[in-house]
Amino acid sequence: MSNQLEKVQELIEKREKARLGGGEKAIAKQHDRGKYTARERIAQLLDEGSFEELDMFVEHRCTNFGQEKKHFLGDGVVTGYGTIEGRLVYVFAQDFTVFGGSLSEAMAMKICKVMDMAMKMGAPVIGLNDSGGARIQEGINALAGYAEIFERNILASGVVPQISAILGPCAGGAVYSPALTDFTIMTKGISYMFLTGPKVVKTVTGEDVTQEALGGATMHSTKSGVAHFATEDGEEALSLIRKLMSFIPQNNLEEAPLVKCTDPIDRLEDALNEIVPDSPNKAYDMYEVIGAIIDNGEFLEVQRDFAKNIIIGFARFNGQSVGIVANQPKYLAGVLDCNASRKAARFVRFCDAFNIPLVSLVDVPGFLPGTGQEYNAVILHGAKLLYAYGEATVPKVTVTLRKSYGGSHIVMSCKQLRGDMNYAWPTAEIAVMGAAGAAEVLYAREAKEQADPKAFIAEKEKEYTDLFCNPYNAAKYGYIDDVIEPRNTRFRIIRALQQLATKKLSNPAKKHGNIPL
Ligand code: HXC
Repeated sequence: MSNQLEKVQELIEKREKARLGGGEKAIAKQHDRGKYTARERIAQLLDEGSFEELDMFVEHRCTNFGQEKKHFLGDGVVTGYGTIEGRLVYVFAQDFTVFGGSLSEAMAMKICKVMDMAMKMGAPVIGLNDSGGARIQEGINALAGYAEIFERNILASGVVPQISAILGPCAGGAVYSPALTDFTIMTKGISYMFLTGPKVVKTVTGEDVTQEALGGATMHSTKSGVAHFATEDGEEALSLIRKLMSFIPQNNLEEAPLVKCTDPIDRLEDALNEIVPDSPNKAYDMYEVIGAIIDNGEFLEVQRDFAKNIIIGFARFNGQSVGIVANQPKYLAGVLDCNASRKAARFVRFCDAFNIPLVSLVDVPGFLPGTGQEYNAVILHGAKLLYAYGEATVPKVTVTLRKSYGGSHIVMSCKQLRGDMNYAWPTAEIAVMGAAGAAEVLYAREAKEQADPKAFIAEKEKEYTDLFCNPYNAAKYGYIDDVIEPRNTRFRIIRALQQLATKKLSNPAKKHGNIPL
């Protein structure tokens, strides 16, 4: 064999060794845990054969605790680039078969390299997390590595989309990288995220709690809102990332991909003309409205099980990707509270950062009153949503279906928050508050002096309803651009979005705003 052939052979062998990560035994153990390896996951995520791996020969440099004797080619992470539906993405996948995927200085350097390349090329970064946290043997160097990654997460925020899948442990400060990214997907049963694990919790607070209850996918997708999606398994998480990518652009200077629309744009939905119940206290299902007006009923809902009183997610109108924000009258009457406000605010900011128009469907009775809300700073959370809508410069189309009262009317993308097209259904009630409450506040004292106080209040309630509980009072002032037939909502939204395609609007130059956090 020639010298050159020998060297080529050596390369092939080294590559084979690197592809085995922590070795066959460790791979078998990973499979026994019900998990795929880093490379298997990347193969599932990307277009077939598109992955180009980088830094396969990087090794850790630690000499503490006998580490100098334990080396694995590539160390605990697989990094590189590839495509999803032909579009470039950068990927890192922590390899649990190597030191439990724990983060070494060398590993951080590999991750930072692909993040820097993603910024240069204007392409999304996808992180697949499965790690025991900081590599304990490396001490401060591992912490420095985390900080290097976090800094890049922060600088990339609003420039390129960042998506995190949690496919195993993600604990301690390591949780902050996913938390800084735009979307976090967790898998049920095998993933967990917490700052301190059950043992430390027991020592510090005396509380007995399982890993699942403390930081599992179900908890984070229903209670904390940390996870945007919870999937049944890893495969579903990876195919979900592909789907999510179809709705979002490569970077903040591009638009989301335009898809050929097979759904007639002027499709009339007669059922919408009768969907709003006669009684203002009766609910209807906002999902039915969303499903009826978007292209082919295809809706990718975000944070489905968290703060269900507001619905957020991606859909398309005439093939164009939009972000939908909709109050859900069927859950807590669609009221705005702390969680609903912060959920919607973050979504509105994502859409605005990445040139995705916003379509808001409004049926909101107000903010939830009470000490529970006030103690949890509903003022600040509500202000977040107000700020997010007011700051957004993407096309904003708002349709008021029924209630739109008081502060919540303003917050939900009203005209004065630079709403571009504000439509209302004939059933809209745009007022300071509901008629019953208004009559009570204004006439409680006078009512006591009447022979029949109840009848008197009812009469005043009717007066208020006639005057304010309709869309025409707002339309009279131009606060509503048009009152539309509900069954024609799809067409009117599409027309509005077409008109707004060339919208140009910018905010005053500043270092950055000070959004109420
Ligand atoms: C070095 C680690 C490691 C770590 C796991 N391993 N975590 N090595 N540093 N942080 C190694 C294990 O020693 C083991 O090596 C292999 O990875 C697989 O781990 P197992 O324990 O066998 O796996 P499993 O039973 O599935 O348990 C997984 C685990 C557990 C729950 C993650 O390993 C664990 O609790 N690890 C420690 C977690 C931790 O405390 N990390 C530091 C958090 S502080 P062998 O050779 O036996 O196969 C932190 C600060 C970050 O992260 C701050 C950022 C700002």
